[in-house]
Amino acid sequence: MHRDVQDRSGPGNPELTVELKWRWRNRMRSRSEEFDQAYRLPITFWGDARIPREVTELARGHRGASVIELGCGIGRCCRFMARLGLKVTGIDFSRVAIERATRRSTGDPVRPSYRVGDVTGLGNIGGPFDLSLDVGCFHCLDEAEREKYAAEVFRVLKPGGTHLLWVMDTTPPPASAPLTPDMVRTVFEGRFILEKASESRRRIVRSHWYWLRRP
Ligand SMILES: C[S@@+](CC[C@H](N)C(=O)[O-])C[C@H]1O[C@@H](n2cnc3c(N)ncnc32)[C@H](O)[C@@H]1O
Repeated sequence: MHRDVQDRSGPGNPELTVELKWRWRNRMRSRSEEFDQAYRLPITFWGDARIPREVTELARGHRGASVIELGCGIGRCCRFMARLGLKVTGIDFSRVAIERATRRSTGDPVRPSYRVGDVTGLGNIGGPFDLSLDVGCFHCLDEAEREKYAAEVFRVLKPGGTHLLWVMDTTPPPASAPLTPDMVRTVFEGRFILEKASESRRRIVRSHWYWLRRP
């Protein structure tokens, strides 16, 4: 690993969120049990009550569409999109997150469909979907997992469908290098066209929103 890269992902880097510092300290890969542990706390440290503008715009422009959210956590965006009239499926490998998401949606007039599952192997999740969304799951994956993820999103998304992705530039360990737009483009190359990448300071970290389209 290049020294600069190593330094950037070390715990002394002020750019890192609490989440990344936690992972770095524990040298942990993204495992469902670790996320279960985080979701047992009343508030997750990446918790963010706001629906990102990018998600709002996507949902408002696609009322009635089917959408899958990858790494949906407790279903914040899923519930929002369902309220706007989208047919929503949310998947997360944390059983605790999906239990919480299901409980939170109990009284909702239109409920998302939640599933426990891994984004690198979506199995018979249904679809094909008009849209897919990921706010903060992709950067939890290692290189091999990212490849599988791209293949799976391609498989479950309709031709012409958009995959909206929010990714932190600095990746948690043991990932190797920062996730730049070039790197994201490469992961999805051959399956998706990167239509737009937009810099973001969401959660105060350097990050990007990506709009990928399945041709
Ligand atoms: C930082 S959280 C973001 C959760 C939610 N999208 C939000 O914005 O609040 C990342 C989520 O991705 C999930 N996740 C990470 N790796 C996953 C995998 N391989 N398969 C399914 N879910 C995964 C975690 O359980 C966690 O809920």
